[in-house]
Amino acid sequence: MQSKKDSILITGSSGLIGSEVATFFHNQGFSVHGVDNNQRAVFFGPQGDTRWSQQRLTDSLPNFRHHELDIRDRQGVLDLVRELRPTGIIHTAAQPSHDRAAAIPFDDFDTNAVGTLNFLEAARQFCPESPFVYMSTNKVYGDLPNSIALKELATRWEYDDPAYRNGIPESFSIDQSKHSLFGASKVAADVMVQEYGRYFDMPTCCLRGGCLTGPNHSGVELHGFLSYLVKCNLEEREYTVFGYQGKQVRDNIHSEDVASFIHAFYQAPRCGEVYNLGGGKGNSCSVLEAFELTRQFSGKEQRYRYVPENRIGDHICYYSDLAKMTAHYPGWSITKSLPQTVEEIVRSWQQRLKS
Ligand SMILES: NC(=O)c1ccc[n+]([C@@H]2O[C@H](COP(=O)([O-])OP(=O)(O)OC[C@H]3O[C@@H](n4cnc5c(N)ncnc54)[C@H](O)[C@@H]3O)[C@@H](O)[C@H]2O)c1
Repeated sequence: MQSKKDSILITGSSGLIGSEVATFFHNQGFSVHGVDNNQRAVFFGPQGDTRWSQQRLTDSLPNFRHHELDIRDRQGVLDLVRELRPTGIIHTAAQPSHDRAAAIPFDDFDTNAVGTLNFLEAARQFCPESPFVYMSTNKVYGDLPNSIALKELATRWEYDDPAYRNGIPESFSIDQSKHSLFGASKVAADVMVQEYGRYFDMPTCCLRGGCLTGPNHSGVELHGFLSYLVKCNLEEREYTVFGYQGKQVRDNIHSEDVASFIHAFYQAPRCGEVYNLGGGKGNSCSVLEAFELTRQFSGKEQRYRYVPENRIGDHICYYSDLAKMTAHYPGWSITKSLPQTVEEIVRSWQQRLKS
């Protein structure tokens, strides 16, 4: 158990990752401060509303305190970090959608890049020794992974280059490819988080997420692939597949495994690190394979329509090479298989759709 003085500040605490991390750290004995302003509902409309999740945290975690704050409010961020001086900062708040960013470039950049800088600078001023974990994204690699030789299998694309047998490593270039505006704003933040680590010797790290998922996701068409797919399946709604024959591959990691990695980093932090955090090859699936997996638990065939044009810059095949994470943190591993995760998402949506 942690000492009473261990307090963690989590931005985006009502979101998928933030809420999971809040619960995880609370269960380890931390007092937890959450920052969220339900901006997800502004980005995605009522379907993206996260107030239910905020309420769940407030009701179930006695040492959780919600702070209604916009991370773009620089003075508000400085004041909060000065007041709390947390022993760790986990920054998950973001405009998280690739496709949405093009319509709201200022909101996207101000939230993703400038919001991150606000917290980094507040941390440097008031708690520079506290581990700072930033949820980055595999979109920092832009569409460069699409230049890797691929082979087409019956239900998925697969790498046809032995160098990527275990997936994409952190040494992969983030430069000179198409990122989407979202990917570009996340690159800006990612590099800034690394810089505060290297330049100021602060214990920062970037987690370049694949598909982070779990039963607490408020999945919408533009963000939250598995969660949204399962919801469509249960509601017998048509799912739109964009290009690549539906064989595009994603690696999926349960948010609990994300939270346990963040905790491992908190306990043994390093400076300016970068990790690719996904489900790895073992937890990867194509859209077509996800339909089948979901059917196994819901009993329903997926209705879908196929649009030949892929989403701009969308990865054809992406899974993370987990070798660096597991080398640096040998006590950590993936604990939830993909079928287990899909089953949890199905059961959770069945409950939520009833109420
Ligand atoms: N879920 C994924 O598949 C995935 C994949 C790769 C990277 N990531 C990254 O992980 C992080 C968390 O993703 P998530 O899936 O939990 O997203 P989410 O949208 O579920 O949660 C983000 C939370 O941040 C809040 N927020 C957004 N802007 C805010 C602002 N200006 N001020 C205060 N709060 C604000 C939202 O209301 C929301 O509750 C993001 O940085 C995202 O880019 C997610």
